[in-house]
Amino acid sequence: MGIPAFDIIGDVAIVEIEGGENEKGIAKLIVKNHPHIKTVLRKMGGREGKYRVRKFKKILGKETETEHKEHGCRFRMDVAKVYFSPREATERQRIAEQVKRGESVMVMFAGIGSFPVIVAKKNPKVGQIYGIEINPHAFKYMVENVRINKVGHKVMPVLGDVKKVAKDYSGLCDRVVMPLPKEGYRYLPEAFQCLKKKGTIHFYYYEHERDLFTKALETVRKTSEKMNKRVKIINKRKVLPYGPRVWKICIDFEVCDSK
Ligand SMILES: C[S@@+](CC[C@H](N)C(=O)[O-])C[C@H]1O[C@@H](n2cnc3c(N)ncnc32)[C@H](O)[C@@H]1O
Repeated sequence: MGIPAFDIIGDVAIVEIEGGENEKGIAKLIVKNHPHIKTVLRKMGGREGKYRVRKFKKILGKETETEHKEHGCRFRMDVAKVYFSPREATERQRIAEQVKRGESVMVMFAGIGSFPVIVAKKNPKVGQIYGIEINPHAFKYMVENVRINKVGHKVMPVLGDVKKVAKDYSGLCDRVVMPLPKEGYRYLPEAFQCLKKKGTIHFYYYEHERDLFTKALETVRKTSEKMNKRVKIINKRKVLPYGPRVWKICIDFEVCDSK
């Protein structure tokens, strides 16, 4: 029996199993190859709702709270209550590498604090980092992860809806990260608002590979016109596969006043 694709988050394995396969047998094989695994969960559908969490079936073990290590940082979470994807580790590192000394950074949709903590750890000379998250479970873990990674002097976790609370950070930031590909475009005006006179936005979106960037670029352009700003696209690229021929993409762009 082969093992289907699975992710490991701390000591939890999350596996995607087709209909009739022997799930107990698959779980035992995973644990045999990765003896530190204590819980094996089966994905039961896609990510849902505002919090972007998914339903699981427990195949082996009970505990869904775990601690995951990434880029020398520790992340505690309950995988059944929050969004976290270990597949995005390279993307987090890529963003952290672009942050410059003294910059203030807004991370919208911050989840358990993975982007804010990694940016702070990688850039000891960074300015203030804000992380806004609406899921109270994820927010609780963000507070804990900021504490255990000793970046409390750099990262300020904020509980709330970006639509409502981002205005409190108007004009304060050099960089905004928007890791919500599904409907993140609705919050582009808030991202523009958070920036100082100029700054950089990392905008994520999902798109079919037949035309990956046109719609996302058009959305950026229309928002910049409404906000009376100029934009310069600095990068556009595929991040990760999302579904059959559908990709998560990222547009990195600079914003400045139109005059
Ligand atoms: C795709 S996840 C990304 C989480 C995290 N940045 C990461 O990379 O692991 C999106 C997150 O945005 C949060 N979210 C969704 N809508 C929101 C809103 N309007 N305001 C604040 N957070 C929101 C969800 O609860 C979820 O944790």
